[in-house]
Amino acid sequence: MPVSVVPSLTLEVPLDPSGLGPDTLRLQSGELRPGGTVGYSLVDRRLWFTPSVSLRAMLAYELVLGDWVRGIDGGVPRSFSPSVFVTGSADLGRPPAPRDPSFDADVAPLLETRCGSCHGGIRPSAGLALWPAERLADAATRGSTEWVGWRVLAVGSPERSYLLYKVTGSPGLVGERMPPGGALTRDQAAALERWIALGAPR
Ligand code: HEC
Repeated sequence: MPVSVVPSLTLEVPLDPSGLGPDTLRLQSGELRPGGTVGYSLVDRRLWFTPSVSLRAMLAYELVLGDWVRGIDGGVPRSFSPSVFVTGSADLGRPPAPRDPSFDADVAPLLETRCGSCHGGIRPSAGLALWPAERLADAATRGSTEWVGWRVLAVGSPERSYLLYKVTGSPGLVGERMPPGGALTRDQAAALERWIALGAPR
């Protein structure tokens, strides 16, 4: 592991978003607790910690979940990946951030071709219209009929948007995974996630 690593945990279940915050994940090595920021992707079920300083070389660090962190199923989330790692001495820098999706080039074609046939027109499935784009404003103010108390599209918060749970197929899901009969690819779901995080711009 280079000292510039951004360590992460891949979780078995998505997190309950109410437990998400700066204390969700910390990094420690004995008494040493480097500062940094926590990131989370529902699509990848990944939590990561971006240290604000370079880590020390040749040292074992551990990623530790906060006490109050729960999975969407109410249990303590387990991780597929090891939580302890040892740094080397190389500083490889951090990889560049991926390109932000564009509504016209990435999101709109997806909503039109994969959702629009049912969630469009005059009688959209589940009363939810996602196409054409002007109708997204209504989707953003609408509560889910399936997960009561949740928003379908919580602008700025993909982890609170039921729509993203419907396309990733999360535990406890009501009804079918969307779109029925053929899941989105990881990259398509990730584009939706990033677009919602950016404020769902049109
Ligand atoms: C073949 C028709 C069809 C397609 C295509 C489709 N849906 Fe659905 N959708 C439904 C039906 C029917 C329901 C209600 C039953 C269910 O949830 O299984 C539904 C329910 C939903 C709900 C739940 C609404 C609520 O009030 O809780 C969401 C969110 C959703 N779809 C999003 C999508 C997204 C996003 C796409 C495209 C990626 C999509 N759907 C594609 C038919 C479709």
